[in-house]
Amino acid sequence: MSSKRETPLRVAVLASGRGSNLQAIIDAIEAGQAKAKIVAVISNKKDAAALERARKHGLPDLFVDPKPFAGRPDGREAYDRALLEVLEKNDVDLVLLAGYMKIVTAVLVNAYANRMMNIHPSLLPAFPGLDVQKKAIEWGCKLSGCTVHFVTEGVDEGPIIIQAAVPILDNDTPETLAARILVQEHKIYPCAVQLFAEGRLRVEGRHVFIDGA
Ligand code: GAR
Repeated sequence: MSSKRETPLRVAVLASGRGSNLQAIIDAIEAGQAKAKIVAVISNKKDAAALERARKHGLPDLFVDPKPFAGRPDGREAYDRALLEVLEKNDVDLVLLAGYMKIVTAVLVNAYANRMMNIHPSLLPAFPGLDVQKKAIEWGCKLSGCTVHFVTEGVDEGPIIIQAAVPILDNDTPETLAARILVQEHKIYPCAVQLFAEGRLRVEGRHVFIDGA
């Protein structure tokens, strides 16, 4: 677990797409609301808007091409070993998955146990996986939301750090619900980063306790 520290927390963000959660974290850091430094923004997609956002803010961005690893029996692990090399070279303390649409393997999970977070647009453990806003509406849920959790090998299964709930309205579409959830994502992800930076997250089994909450 992280402990009280003098130097800013060194963060890497892994993102595959639009990067609005990355942006929320950049904004929180620039506003002094999260005491952290983004030392790498990494993507498995060359054209990810997240990489462009990083460049705009003068942050190191890196595309790690998955193609050379595809088709190998250990391709997913080998890809993660390449990522791990970058993370270790940059002395990364905390890894943030922010719309990173690739399943991470034990290679990264073990190296960053309780030091890698993910954000997911549902109230886990309901609706892990993809198309979750559509699934929540179709199920007839009255509430949905988002979850920041530590990453374990099971997809969307790790210990929950923070959740925020939003109502599901009768006329919601997956898009309108996703937009309402996203507003909350942009609040809780930077908040989780700051709690980690302050050394206030304590993991006991499946439970994450927030010291001083
Ligand atoms: C966010 O809604 C995030 O919760 C979701 O992808 C979107 C990325 O948006 N992540 C997952 O579904 C992961 N299972 P962003 O690129 O604008 O941050």
